[in-house]
Amino acid sequence: MKDLTPSTDILDPIEVASRDEITALQQQRMAWSLRHAYENSPFYRQRFDQAGAHPDDFRTLADLAKFPFTMKQDLRDTYPFGMFAVPRDRLIRIHASSGTTGKPTVVGYTRNDIDNWAAMVARSIRASGGRRGDIAHIAYGYGLFTGGLGAHYGAEKLGCTVVPISGGMTERQVTLITDFKPRIIMVTPSYMLSILDEFRRQGLDPRESSIEVGIFGAEPWTNAMREEIEQAFNMHAVDIYGLSEVMGPGVANECVETKDGLHVWEDHFYPEIIDPQTGEVLPDGQMGELVFTTLTKEGLPMVRYRTRDLTRILPGTARSMRRIEKITGRCDDMIILRGVNVFPTQIEEQILKCAGLAPHFQIELTRKDRMDVMTVHVECTAARAASEARTASARELAHHIKSVVGISTRIEVHDPDRIARSEGKAKRLLDNRPK
Ligand code: DLL
Repeated sequence: MKDLTPSTDILDPIEVASRDEITALQQQRMAWSLRHAYENSPFYRQRFDQAGAHPDDFRTLADLAKFPFTMKQDLRDTYPFGMFAVPRDRLIRIHASSGTTGKPTVVGYTRNDIDNWAAMVARSIRASGGRRGDIAHIAYGYGLFTGGLGAHYGAEKLGCTVVPISGGMTERQVTLITDFKPRIIMVTPSYMLSILDEFRRQGLDPRESSIEVGIFGAEPWTNAMREEIEQAFNMHAVDIYGLSEVMGPGVANECVETKDGLHVWEDHFYPEIIDPQTGEVLPDGQMGELVFTTLTKEGLPMVRYRTRDLTRILPGTARSMRRIEKITGRCDDMIILRGVNVFPTQIEEQILKCAGLAPHFQIELTRKDRMDVMTVHVECTAARAASEARTASARELAHHIKSVVGISTRIEVHDPDRIARSEGKAKRLLDNRPK
């Protein structure tokens, strides 16, 4: 793989500014953001008043802890437009969550918000190794989901030639990659695996494809999966993070030259880590729940938004802005099996150690005799589909999970292509326990 370290003259000056400069900018922008929220959103005014926190009380970044948290439920309670801090006619775009677990949450952007978002995604693509003039194949879903349009505006802003294919029609994805020869692909890592299968189905060598950089996010994925994809395509696989409530993709991104966690674009988003039980702010380096305050957003300012994502804050390396460690789980995805906490990514890591298994999987929870049972559904590779090979793979996986994760699981090894594929975020967990 090529060395894609950028020369510093193509970076935004703030990416390489001193910590003092970054802190000074954050302090000034935070003061604006808290005041903007308080003065223009009745929701925030009421919340701040209830907590006895006034924007005048904010002097340094440490004062942020006096302000109340915002949760996903607040967006649901104020559905659809109740949290906005500008009149509706100043919003030029709406996005929304799918609403599978309740009312959808709606977010909105002013023209400045859209411009800033595009700039942050452009910065993310550049950090990943993308450059002006590249062809960017965008297979994140377009529509109310922020992935497709978020990536699209950022890639255009950087000066890429955008192929807005969206998710789905996997055969066509491979045809267009072969014909248009993109250098960049932006897609969920799980859908990239489906594209990989399709390359092989068509008898094409993925290592011969034109793609040099994949920018993967919207769901947790492991370094083991990075290795799998990088080897298969002979490309760099880089992590992009974001969430609709805070903006969309491009809140944080890895640098291709280090791949050591995601630099938070701290000139627009202020991160904190809290103890998810007590809400106490934890020092950098400690694991906890990631919380963001937006520093420039006009339409929907977010004050101390609890993401439910678990990670820790690390110092800057390739850039001065601090990093978050690769996110391997959310509070909501954590399975507690007979007292042991398990995340689907821990199972992914173990599957990738087994040569006879393909990296497609689902975890099913059932209950037997009042005990929870975890079954891992996984596929064999075509080369190891014989029944003895499958039994050996199942035994190998059960052993790895038992010795590394510490739980006993049932393993079902299915034929290739039997596990449901997603064209966007993979659904890893099937909870079939009686309610
Ligand atoms: O998934 C935005 C996005 C689109 C990010 C495309 C990256 C690429 P939501 O649908 O609101 O927004 O889901 C946000 O997805 O809180 C995390 O739990 C998870 N997530 C997003 N990126 C990553 C990542 C988009 N790189 C939720 N690693 C977040 C792990 C991620 N989890």
